[in-house]
Amino acid sequence: MRMLLKMRNFNKFIESIKVLRLLVFSIVEELGIRHQTYSSYNLPLYARTNGRVQEFIFKLLCKDNSHNYQKCFEKVIDSSMDLYHSSLIDKPITQIELIELVSHYRSSGYVSLPFRLTPNLLTEIRNECYQLPCNAINLGSSKSFKSVSSVPDNYGSKLITDDLLTTQIPTMTKLLSSDFFYLLSKLLMSSKKAYLGVCQFWLSNPLNTPDTYAAQNWHWDCDGIAWVKYFLNLSDIDIDSGPHQAILSTHTPGAKSQELLDLGFCGCGGVEITLDMIKPTLENHSEQKLVTFCSEKGSILAGDTRCWHRGMPPTSKKRELIELVYFGHTAGMEKIL
Ligand SMILES: [Fe+2]
Repeated sequence: MRMLLKMRNFNKFIESIKVLRLLVFSIVEELGIRHQTYSSYNLPLYARTNGRVQEFIFKLLCKDNSHNYQKCFEKVIDSSMDLYHSSLIDKPITQIELIELVSHYRSSGYVSLPFRLTPNLLTEIRNECYQLPCNAINLGSSKSFKSVSSVPDNYGSKLITDDLLTTQIPTMTKLLSSDFFYLLSKLLMSSKKAYLGVCQFWLSNPLNTPDTYAAQNWHWDCDGIAWVKYFLNLSDIDIDSGPHQAILSTHTPGAKSQELLDLGFCGCGGVEITLDMIKPTLENHSEQKLVTFCSEKGSILAGDTRCWHRGMPPTSKKRELIELVYFGHTAGMEKIL
């Protein structure tokens, strides 16, 4: 018994050292001295502490405690008006919609934005995306989308351009220049800053089995200290074209089953997480609900992907979307776009 207690204390001591180390690295990152130190520590620490350390670091380094909140609300509404006047979205966001949106996002982890990208904008973005070279698992980086999209399914279901969209797709530049997504990200994360770190085009082809590399198995993301992901649907998303699925309200610290977190991330630890494994936790938490986000093209989904989530494998139709990721801190980011 004494031995066991000693072992437990020793493990706690090791954990404390790791937390301390992470804090030091985060502070060093904050000072802009060193990059890429955070990510390798973040994942195991998130799992072991069920997100609590990450939340603590967020409060320490990123959280906006100022009273400028109202101003940020107004700026988001103004920037949505700019997008509307530029014919990029079909309607601006209202104050009531924005208040509800932020509240819903924070409590459930996901929200659909109350407007659509206009058909003209979608056509322009799609045309420009298909002209770009792409990176894809097993396919190298030099092929065009046109040739790559006809490869057999067993090459994997995802095709991604690298983070070129902000410079090589003029239409995306137009969409991002209003700062709407930047400002909204600050609001959703309640962070002092927001950095655009990912802007990618995803083309998911129908596939017989889920592709882990295309995020089609159940997992949670661990991309930094805080982030918000936007999925801009360029095609209609129904049950046959691989809609995003999530378990709402599993983004908060302690919300996920510790047993499952201990199994590893995204099946990369050798264990594939299935819905049946997650379900017992749902029964004890009424706020945790499985949602499948089918929607029309032009719709935008914002997600805190610390929630359990996946893209359903497309069964008969392909799915096209742009993913934007804004981070609340540069720690763990590969680059700032
Ligand atoms: Fe993910």
